[in-house]
Amino acid sequence: MEKIHVGTGRSYDVYIGRGILENVGSCLKESGAGKAVLVCGENVFPLYAEKINLALEKEGFKVFDFIIEPGEASKSLETYGKLLEFLCEKELTRSDMLIALGGGVTGDLTGFAAATYQRGIGFIQIPTTLLAMVDSSVGGKTAVNLSGGKNRAGAFWQPSAVLCDPDTLRTLPEREYRSGMAEVIKYGVLGSRAFFDELAGDIPCSHEHIIGTCVKMKRDIVAEDEFDTGKRRLLNLGHSFGHAIEALSEFKMTHGEAVSAGTAIIARASAAMGYMAESEAGSIIKCLKKYGLPTETGYSKEEIERFVRMDKKLSGDTISLAVPREIGSCDIIGVPLGDIPRWLSLGGVK
Ligand SMILES: NC(=O)c1ccc[n+]([C@@H]2O[C@H](COP(=O)([O-])OP(=O)(O)OC[C@H]3O[C@@H](n4cnc5c(N)ncnc54)[C@H](O)[C@@H]3O)[C@@H](O)[C@H]2O)c1
Repeated sequence: MEKIHVGTGRSYDVYIGRGILENVGSCLKESGAGKAVLVCGENVFPLYAEKINLALEKEGFKVFDFIIEPGEASKSLETYGKLLEFLCEKELTRSDMLIALGGGVTGDLTGFAAATYQRGIGFIQIPTTLLAMVDSSVGGKTAVNLSGGKNRAGAFWQPSAVLCDPDTLRTLPEREYRSGMAEVIKYGVLGSRAFFDELAGDIPCSHEHIIGTCVKMKRDIVAEDEFDTGKRRLLNLGHSFGHAIEALSEFKMTHGEAVSAGTAIIARASAAMGYMAESEAGSIIKCLKKYGLPTETGYSKEEIERFVRMDKKLSGDTISLAVPREIGSCDIIGVPLGDIPRWLSLGGVK
C-alpha cells in the first residue's frame, strides 16, 4: 500500500492499495466519529457499499446510506439539499463523518455537503472511477452545479483521508475508464514528459503507478496553491474549452471526453500561435486518440465562446488559460475574452 501525504492547511493522507476498502473502519476510528453517512450512486452501491458498511459496523459505527442517482444531474442544489436534510434527520454532529463512495459526482456533492453542514464536518473520499482517483478526490474542491454554470456553488474543503482501491476499476465501464485517462494524460502534458512518454508508449502502466504519479503531482501543486489563485490553474489544462463542450452536450459527453477535446484544441492553438512545436501538439493528440478519446468538437466557435464567458476562471474580461509550451510544461496565460474565437479557430474549431 502506498501512502501519500497531502500538506494542505488541513493535511491528510491518500492511501492507494488493492483491497484497501476493508480498512475504512480503522481509518475512521482514528477520527473519533460515532456515526457515518455513506453517500453513493445507485450503480456503485450494490458493488461495494456492503463491504464498507460491514467494515464500519465492525468498528462500532452507526452507518446510514444515502443513495443518489448516477450522473452529473445529481450534482444539483436539489440533491445537495436532500442530503443536508438527511444529515439533520440522522442527527449527525460535527464529530461524525460523511463518506463519498463513487466517482467525481459523488465526491464533489458529498464534499460540498460536508463543507457546509454545521459549518463543516469531516469526510472521507473513496473514489471508484479512474478520474476520481487521479484527480477529483484530492485537493478539496467541492461543488454542485447551478443552471448558470458548472461547479458554480462550492467550497474548498479537504477530505480527512482518501482511500483508493484500484480493484474497484474492474467494474468501471470502459467509456468511464477512458474518460479518466483524459485527466491522466493532462498530468503528463502539464508536468512530466517522462510520465507522458510512458502513457504514449507500448508498455501498459499499472493502475497503482498511474494513480500514485498523478496524486503526487496534484499534491505538489495543491500544497503550493490550495485556493487556486496561481499554479493550481495549471490543472485546468483543457478544461476552459472542455467545460463549455461538456455543458453544450448537456452532459451526454463525459467530463473526461470533453476535457480531451478541450486539450486537443488548446494544443493545436498553442502550436499555431508559436508557443509550442507542431510536433508536440501532434504527440498530445496522438496520445489522446490512443486511448479512444475525442480530439475534435462539432460545436461552433460561437457556441463554445458563449459558455467560456460563464467560466469561473474569468476575471473581468480576461480568462486564465492553461497553455502547453511543450510536453511536461505549461503556462497560465491571461487571454482577453475577445481573443477566444481566434484561439478556438486556431485550435481547429469551425
Ligand atoms: N473536485 C475536483 O477537483 C474535480 C476534478 C475533476 C472532475 N471533477 C468532477 O468529477 C465529475 C466527473 O467524475 P467521474 O468521471 O468520476 O464521473 P461520475 O462520478 O459520474 O461516475 C461515472 C459513472 O461511473 C459509475 N461508476 C463509478 N465507479 C464505478 C465502478 N467502480 N464500477 C462501476 N461503475 C462505476 C457511476 O455510477 C457513474 O455512472 C464531474 O462532475 C467533474 O466536474 C471534480
